[in-house]
Amino acid sequence: GAPVTVDIGKLETGQLLLVKWRGKPVWVVKRSDVVLAQLPSLNDELQDPDSIEPQQPGYAKNINRSIKPQVLVTVGICTHLGCSPTYLKGNFAEHAPGVDYGFFCPCHGSKYDMAGRVFKNVPAPLNLVVPPHYYVDDSTILVG
Ligand code: FES
Repeated sequence: GAPVTVDIGKLETGQLLLVKWRGKPVWVVKRSDVVLAQLPSLNDELQDPDSIEPQQPGYAKNINRSIKPQVLVTVGICTHLGCSPTYLKGNFAEHAPGVDYGFFCPCHGSKYDMAGRVFKNVPAPLNLVVPPHYYVDDSTILVG
């Protein structure tokens, strides 16, 4: 499939932009500083907090799992059986106490944090996939 250009110039904090790449949903999410600051504190609740598994390119193998800290680019497909998780903005805490933002898979209850890292004690075995991508300029991402 061809690479997909994503204009993030108007992407607002908290917003999720959905694009299609190779028939898959790809999410581009702008995270707030508050959300980013919370990520390290979740490590003990996660299966692969340090992204040991090859679910991301080397340039996204960091705590934020991204090139720019604020902007998460991830494939929106649950690593259990392929449903698309729901982005919960401000109402994720019923699935993870004290955590307001995250992704919840309605099929069998898998949960992911705002870096797409999977929580423990859910059926999904792996973090969400980060697709290959790069910045053409400050507000343009090429996925693929
Ligand atoms: Fe997401 Fe099973 S497909 S939890």
